Amino acid sequence: MNDPSTLPQGQGRPEPGRGATGSESPRAESRGERLVAGVSAPDDAQFDAGLRPRSLEEYIGQDRVRDNLQVSVAAARGRSEALDHVLLYGPPGLGKTTLAYVIGNELGVSVRATAGPVIEKPGDLAAMLTNLQPHEVLFIDEIHRLAPVIEEILYPAMEDYELDILIGQGPSARSVKVPLQRFTLIGATTRAGLLTSPLRARFGIVHRLDFYTDGDIAEIVRRSARILGVAIDEEATAEVARRSRGTPRIANRLLRRVRDYAQVRADGHVTGDVARAALSLLEVDDRGFDEVDRKLLRTIIEKFGGGPVGVNSLAAAINEERDAIEDIYEPFLIQAGFLDRTPRGRVATPRAYEYFGLTAPGRDSRLW
Ligand SMILES: Nc1ncnc2c1ncn2[C@@H]1O[C@H](COP(=O)(O)OP(=O)(O)O)[C@@H](O)[C@H]1O
Ligand SMILES: [Mg+2]
Repeated sequence: MNDPSTLPQGQGRPEPGRGATGSESPRAESRGERLVAGVSAPDDAQFDAGLRPRSLEEYIGQDRVRDNLQVSVAAARGRSEALDHVLLYGPPGLGKTTLAYVIGNELGVSVRATAGPVIEKPGDLAAMLTNLQPHEVLFIDEIHRLAPVIEEILYPAMEDYELDILIGQGPSARSVKVPLQRFTLIGATTRAGLLTSPLRARFGIVHRLDFYTDGDIAEIVRRSARILGVAIDEEATAEVARRSRGTPRIANRLLRRVRDYAQVRADGHVTGDVARAALSLLEVDDRGFDEVDRKLLRTIIEKFGGGPVGVNSLAAAINEERDAIEDIYEPFLIQAGFLDRTPRGRVATPRAYEYFGLTAPGRDSRLW
């Protein structure tokens, strides 16, 4: 799919090496080339920084989360206390990392960032914790991937602002408590379900990020176009927004690709026609589905009679990892109403049949 050589990259900019996708999940690396993936691709990083909103005011959408955080932050500041620990979860590309920095900014403190898989030794985390200044933010991305020994250090740190350190070995070993500054831990994860319950219980503020509405995504496209200096009209904005799977990261990526196309094949202005031509060249369809989405839905319909099919069988049939299906592909298909998750497995909805121009089998029509 999306062979880089067919993309309107203009000057033939070489595609950066695979596997350098930063801090997202490891499955993401093999998916680095997927245009409509919410996970960060190698060439997103350089743009991400410039496009990130810095304040709650600038942060578009997620109104409920924003309102709640506004209150929490104002209250903590008013009392001159550290903000309670915050857990942010939701599919990749929805703005968890962005929000962590926004919170730091709103608190007026710096944010130290790390990621679950990066912390290898207990000492690494202990060093980070002891270096924190009062009320500062420690951001741990992919917090569900912390090793258990590391996680245990976090418990007393989060609860009592204390490190429990074991000094010496064998019978002479003793435990020493080292006090920490009052800090705020912000954890981000795509899979809240994978967090251990003791860890989860230590977060006082827990927010789930949802896919954005088309209107909010359009607003994000307008904002990014303004920052990048892209001339894009309203019709084109809507075309890009509709195909972005409710995901800001995808919207920003599609905007950049559409801009390339407009520069090379048109006069630089992104009109509705230019956007549609560019997006069809990129094989992003009207729904923002790509080949993997279509394969997934078609397989359920054709191989498994529409379902229910267990996620493991599905993964084997389409040659994808189970985690990738659960984290990356299926959340959007479910939210868009093309897939149902039932206790007995995944089911293709009538909308999915319609999408392929098929009629849904007449099972119990009352079910629908
Ligand atoms: N609410 C938002 N408003 C505007 N842009 C956003 C918003 N949320 C995310 N973005 C953009 O999407 C990109 C990806 O967001 P990020 O925070 O890295 O997602 P996540 O950490 O959830 O994978 C950011 O670079 C930012 O430009
Ligand atoms: Mg992130």
